[in-house]
This record gives sequence, structure tokens and C-alpha cells, in this order.
Amino acid sequence: MSEPFDAVDVITHKRDRHELADDEIRWVVDAYTRGAVADEQMSALAMAVLLNGMTRREISTWTTAMIASGERMDFSALSRPTADKHSTGGVGDKITLPLAPLVAVFGVAVPQLSGRGLGHTGGTLDKLESIAGWQASLSGDAMLRQLDDVGAVVCAAGSGLAPADKKLYALRDVTGTVEAIPLIASSIMSKKIAEGTGALVLDVKVGSGAFMKTQEDATELARTMVDLGTDAGVTTVALLTDMSTPLGLTAGNALEVRESVEVLAGGGPPDVVELTVRLAEEMLEAAGRGGQDVAAALADGRAMDVWRRMVAAQGGDPDAALPTAKHTDDVLAPADGVITSMDAYAVGVAAWRLGAGRARKEDPVQAGAGVELHVKPGASVRAGERMMTLHTDTPDRFERARAALEGAVFVAPEGSRPVLGPVVIDRIGGADAGR
Ligand code: URA
Repeated sequence: MSEPFDAVDVITHKRDRHELADDEIRWVVDAYTRGAVADEQMSALAMAVLLNGMTRREISTWTTAMIASGERMDFSALSRPTADKHSTGGVGDKITLPLAPLVAVFGVAVPQLSGRGLGHTGGTLDKLESIAGWQASLSGDAMLRQLDDVGAVVCAAGSGLAPADKKLYALRDVTGTVEAIPLIASSIMSKKIAEGTGALVLDVKVGSGAFMKTQEDATELARTMVDLGTDAGVTTVALLTDMSTPLGLTAGNALEVRESVEVLAGGGPPDVVELTVRLAEEMLEAAGRGGQDVAAALADGRAMDVWRRMVAAQGGDPDAALPTAKHTDDVLAPADGVITSMDAYAVGVAAWRLGAGRARKEDPVQAGAGVELHVKPGASVRAGERMMTLHTDTPDRFERARAALEGAVFVAPEGSRPVLGPVVIDRIGGADAGR
């Protein structure tokens, strides 16, 4: 069968800064998915998009074409509204774990399709898999039943959602084209729109531990995704949140589950609690159930009850002891003083090197590995005091983890006043944008 377009024409149009027509975009995404456009041609097009950008219409058509490459889920049979959250990924970002049950307390169902970690950021499924018996894979029917009974599901995305993205993402990963904002936005939003959620809150991370290192880039990504969601009929809001410092006091799978359970028990680090509550408020508002006292449901155990039912529904034992690493090693303060910064990227790389993350997608992860922080920016320390504990089953990894942490913590002389930024930097979309 002859093709209606020629891949080389599409590439040269974008290379020469022309706007691609809707038909061209629909064709190239579909033809690439079925193998009629070669990897090297799609690589060239992705690079042209990275260099020359795309208009709002082009990004919207590209996203719709990626959604059309696979199945769409449908939650319209549920008796409750749905809301989901997507984070662009960060170090110590365990927020989904307390957030999903917390939102479900208020009668909004949370269908969270998650992934595994790659590189220095952890994956939600890897974290939950450190709970004895917990299963990431669910059939569509089982997911719907759990959403009706419990109100929250965190499970693996099936291969049927946006297969064009799966293929393109793997190609971008090896061709230096991951960072193109139109491609990141369409990749994330094609999966979220195909997932069928009614409302979506995006947590767009900014800082050394995030994809987006500057507020300007993060704002552009957030704005692009909010527009895509809105155009597709999904109520979408984005928060720009700080990722210059790790979130909470742990980075690593079981360590992060432990911290999440502390939050669900009404305790936990203040930054994790603040972000969990703020995202829950945004999700409830976007789903039409705003104005609730969200923090109370953490304090009084209602969110913990849903968590226990959510874990048990997927075969997990919420009472089982979490795995711990066989070996630990402390990182000590070099001098007396005040911690003014702690680099999120360095802590993420250290956790990854300790075995919490994977270098290739088929690698196993160590459930107990990671970094535990005893102090955060703003704290005073004495020389020789413990700042971090490194955890691993394989102690030959300590040296490379320590190398990653070289220069990661800045200790200023006593009396210095660190400038600590807010957890939530900005808000984009919804009724009061820029609040
Ligand atoms: N996450 C995604 O799903 N896609 C991207 O392109 C980047 C992050």
C-alpha cells in the first residue's frame, strides 16, 4: 500500500521551521508505530522538534495521534469522580503513596498507573514492591473493582496504552532528544489522557534533581501540559515544586515506604506532609470535591485505613516488616556550621549507586538500599555528627555512592542564615493561575 506522505518531507518541513499539518502528524506517528517510518527517520524528526519546537496545535495533534495508537480506559461506570497526579520525577518523591489513599478518603477515586525508576529517580512500583506480596500487575476489571471498593489503585500501566509513546520514548532515550518540551509534554499527557482520568494534577519538579533545571523551562512544560489536558476535556492543574533538595528524609524503595507510612500515621517530614496535603487539595478541587480538611484525614487514621486496604487488595501485607539493607555506613559533617544546601541530584545518584535504582530497565533493584538523611538545609551540625546513613546489601557500592556525594552538602559557618525556598513555587492552570 502506498503511503500518503514521505517521511523525508515531514523531516525537512520541521527542519526548515514550518508548521506540520495535522494530516502529516497523524500519519508520521501512526506510520512510525507500525514500522513504516524507520527509527533513523523518527530520530531526525525528534531532533528537528527539539531544535525548532512545535506550536500548540502541533503538540495537541501529536498527543492525540499517540493516544489513538492504543487503547483508552473508561471509568465512566464508576460511582465516584476520578483524579490522578503525575510527577515529572524527583529524588525522594514518594508522594503517591500517602496521596492516593488520602484523596480516596474523600470519595474521589485515584487510578494511578505508574512506572519503574530509571536513572537517579525512583519508580513508584519499585517502592511498593518492597512490601511483602504486593503485586503491580492488575487486569482492567480488577482495577475497576478496586477503584469501586477501596477508591485507590497504584498499578503498572499495561502495554496497550499509547504504544507509539513507548517506542518513541525508547528512541529519544538513545538519541539525545528526551529534553524536547513538546515531546515530554505529549509523552506524559498521551498516557494520562488515555488512562481516562477526569481530573489531573501535575507536579512539575524544578531543580538539580529534576528533568527541568530552571523555573522558566518547568513553567513552559507545565503550561504545555495544562493546555493539552484542558483541550482533551481533563481538568488539569500544575504545581511547580522544589527539587533542588531531596523530598523528605529518605531516597530508596523500602526507606521511602517507611516514611510514607509515617506520614499516613500523622507524622513524617514537614515537606512531605505539606506537598501531600497540597496535592490532595488540588486533586479534590479539580474533581469537584474541594473545601475538605485534608490534613485531618492524615491525623485521625482515615488515610491509613485506605492505605492498608489498598495494599491488601493487591496481595500485600501492610503489617509485614519492611526489608532492610545488610550494611550501613554513615556520612559525617566535615565541620561545625549550618547546612545551607543539599544537592538532590547527588543524593539521587548515591541512592541509585547503592542499588535502589537500575541502569538498564531489566536490572533488579535492592529493596533496602538507599540514602537516609538525618539533617536537611537549615539544620546546625557539629563536626563528626551524622548527616546521612547509606544503606546497601553490597558494601562494595559505598565508595561510588560516597563519590557521588562529594561536595553535595554545603556547611556554612555558624551564624549563617540559609535562604530556604518554598516547597510549592507556583501554580499553573485552574481558576486562580499564578496564585
Ligand atoms: N516521562 C514520560 O513519560 N515521558 C517523557 O518524555 C519524560 C518523562
